[in-house]
Amino acid sequence: MESQQVSLPLKPSQIREKASSDCLLYMDGIDLLARRQEINPSFLSILLTLPDDNAAIAYLRALARETVEKVYGDQVFLRGLVEISSYCKNNCRYCGIRRSNTTLKRYRMKPQMILQCCEEGYRYGMRTFVLQGGEDSWWTDERLCQLVADIRTKFPDCAITLSMGERSRESYQKLFDAGADRYLLRHETANSEHYAYLHPADMSFAHRMQCLQDLKEIGYQVGCGFMVGSPGQTFQTICEDLQFILSFRPQMVGIGPFVATENTPFAKERNGSVERTLRLLAIIRLLHPHVLLPATTALGSLHPMGREQGILSGANVLMPNLSPVENREQYHIYDHKICLGDSVDHCYACLETRIHSTGRRLVVDRGDYR
Ligand code: 5AD
Ligand code: FES
Repeated sequence: MESQQVSLPLKPSQIREKASSDCLLYMDGIDLLARRQEINPSFLSILLTLPDDNAAIAYLRALARETVEKVYGDQVFLRGLVEISSYCKNNCRYCGIRRSNTTLKRYRMKPQMILQCCEEGYRYGMRTFVLQGGEDSWWTDERLCQLVADIRTKFPDCAITLSMGERSRESYQKLFDAGADRYLLRHETANSEHYAYLHPADMSFAHRMQCLQDLKEIGYQVGCGFMVGSPGQTFQTICEDLQFILSFRPQMVGIGPFVATENTPFAKERNGSVERTLRLLAIIRLLHPHVLLPATTALGSLHPMGREQGILSGANVLMPNLSPVENREQYHIYDHKICLGDSVDHCYACLETRIHSTGRRLVVDRGDYR
């Protein structure tokens, strides 16, 4: 991967012109993947193990970029993220805010403060707010519905996305009726044994899948997703993740590299690969061309140009942080997280420059699925 400068990359056809016959075979395979929208484990493992400088990888990313631009043009959508609570009753083995991590000071934002954060985001052109938090029983249906209804009234032209973990179907229904439009719930892995390795026994793969199904049936635009390089992940489990995305057809897919995090059972594991994340972004774009695909903060945290490279690999969404700066460090899902001390003003200007360098632009738009 290029190090510091984003040089404006070539079109797929230009990459083809210069390619050797070996590379052309892989490029044909990539074309077929895109045309048929299917993938098998052996071709996946080829795509994930080719050297970084192989022309077929440049081709994969260029084709993903061309594909996203056909659907969404040069538009990159912003989602203002408000991290409303760092309390969590769960104990996921990878996550920094797991309940057993007693080294963290926990916080819960007041509804008034959450509304103020949305207001600030609105001034910067954000038309989607993502309320994210641990599974915190303080946020009862009544309280969360009230918050959603207040945001809905105050910002009628904005989309409201929730990312509050597993709840009952009734709860999801009430929140939808109160005005929530979208829900992010990463499936984490589509392989039940891998799921059991990543989570303690009181969490169930079947329940996670049920939640995703419920959300979809209720009418939410749904986001699933997984970490790249999580402990226990194999080409096989990644292939199952891709098959799941193909059959579930989510409106959004969030993927980012796994980040080994202090005070979790996986603290000593290896981080996920940025390069592999970029290839998977491109593959997901080709398999599911209309999906909304963020260049995640985790990607930006493991590489200084991670988000730009993500945009250049088929991503079309960014999620700047609107949370009060004093809470940022406490919402410690993973180590090395960027922007912890940066104001919304600073991040907005930063993102605008970064996105400009990729030849795309930030737009004032809800950024619905098309
Ligand atoms: N590294 C990267 N991503 C993580 N997440 C949780 N812990 C980590 C970690 N250590 C992701 C999970 C979760 C989302 C909110 O953050 O996929 O769904
Ligand atoms: Fe926050 Fe660059 S996006 S500092």
